[in-house]
Amino acid sequence: MEFFDVIQSARAMRRYKPDPIPEDVLVQLIEAAHLGPSGSNRQARHWVVVRDPEVKQQLADLNRRGVSMYLQNNREAANPHVDQGRRERFLAAVEHQMNHMHEVPAIVIACADTVVKPTDTFAVGSSAATEVWGAVQNLLLAARALGVGSVPTTLAFIGDQRDEAARVLNLPDHILPMVLVPLGWPTGNFGPIRRRPLDEVLHWDRYEHKSDSPERPKV
Ligand SMILES: Cc1cc2nc3c(=O)[nH]c(=O)nc-3n(C[C@H](O)[C@H](O)[C@H](O)COP(=O)(O)O)c2cc1C
Repeated sequence: MEFFDVIQSARAMRRYKPDPIPEDVLVQLIEAAHLGPSGSNRQARHWVVVRDPEVKQQLADLNRRGVSMYLQNNREAANPHVDQGRRERFLAAVEHQMNHMHEVPAIVIACADTVVKPTDTFAVGSSAATEVWGAVQNLLLAARALGVGSVPTTLAFIGDQRDEAARVLNLPDHILPMVLVPLGWPTGNFGPIRRRPLDEVLHWDRYEHKSDSPERPKV
């Protein structure tokens, strides 16, 4: 696929066929993730690819708890960048994935290695998270290029559930699960991705205060 077609259509895909993803494809995806940027090239991350039904079920249970809480607290929340119809389709897809996570062909858990500490010069906010997310984006784009559906998710690790997930995955204490990426051949079509207009967020030389920008969403 042409590179910018991949970027423009790599949207969140949450409904998959049951067909397995061949192991060489999974390895190719993790290789792409592994090549992602890393602060001082410390490469402080690990990848657990889950295909075992029992482990998938345990992760699906954690995801269900996180998503249920999210849906309870956010179902009515407005997002100024998304109209009501799209918001409802998004919530329905999140709920569908919650109900089917245990059936997903493969689940990748992107983990941060906290022994290898990134320095403040490149890590803004949670350093473990910053080390992992750029690599996860490589994984998402590679998946799209190969026709594999994916979405980066975090709700399985809400609050103390991160510790529970670490136990399920047999992680040592210094390895933290950060992002759960389900992978499967999608039932629907990719793309196009929709975002707020570029001129609301693109600034030249200095920040331009734009009076017509919608109110910032609460996060
Ligand atoms: C930090 C972060 C956390 C996310 N957590 C979840 C999640 O727990 N569950 C989920 O279904 N999607 C999750 N997403 C995916 C977003 O919902 C998705 O990127 C966004 O709605 C845009 O989707 P689109 O690219 O299809 O337009 C997360 C994305 C990010 C960047």
